[in-house]
Amino acid sequence: MTHDNFELKDLFGPEEVVRPGKPLVIAIDGPSGSGKSSISREVAQRLKLAYLDTGAMYRALTWYCLDSGVDLQDSAAVELAAEQMPLDISTSAATEYVAVGGVDVTPDIREPRISSSVSAVATTLGARTELIRRQRRLIEQHNRRMVIEGRDITTVVAPQAEVRILLTASEEARLRRRGIQLGGSQNAEQLAVQVLERDAKDSTVVNFTKAADGVVTLDSSDLDFEQTVKAALNIVGRILYGG
Ligand code: DC
Repeated sequence: MTHDNFELKDLFGPEEVVRPGKPLVIAIDGPSGSGKSSISREVAQRLKLAYLDTGAMYRALTWYCLDSGVDLQDSAAVELAAEQMPLDISTSAATEYVAVGGVDVTPDIREPRISSSVSAVATTLGARTELIRRQRRLIEQHNRRMVIEGRDITTVVAPQAEVRILLTASEEARLRRRGIQLGGSQNAEQLAVQVLERDAKDSTVVNFTKAADGVVTLDSSDLDFEQTVKAALNIVGRILYGG
């Protein structure tokens, strides 16, 4: 089996559940703009696994802190907010839904005011501890059958995952994709500041630029969406069935 000729149906059959009844955690980390969320969601859908976007949890916590007037520099207050946050997040790849205290915040957490503040929350270690605890609980609630993506999943949240992938892309490819995602409304300089500064801040607490031992690196710089999904499925197939 090679990257080029792998077809999911060769291994799993179109309606087949992969490894039924057995754990299958697929942990995917990577920087912003690597295509992590869309690729992870698609892999979950094709393998009929649950899906968790952990970045959305950090974004929801940021929304909750701003909404309730918590000072993001006050780490004890941010940690307490993490513990108290009434979060409801979809674990289905087919539905994107995040609610805090019954308020649907799905579009709100993607707003620039959240993107520019989320690093302050994500670098608060006590808040990370609480969100990691919730993430592990969600994995268990889905009988350890889930695609879970973020920055520290392969290393901290689920280092025992059956499959661990670091999805990377060149700086140029990442900026290009972010630009397209934001509808071309920002100039190159604003984009570079947003994407690169946020990654630089975030990487002070978690390393998502170099693959840890046993983590497979998938470089998507020169791959389109479908090619990247196939390459990810190929890695899953190789790890589960050899080849
Ligand atoms: O992937 P994203 O842009 O939605 O992530 C939002 C923020 O949360 C980003 O600043 C990195 C941080 N994050 C993190 O520190 N650990 C994770 N597992 C996921 C996201």
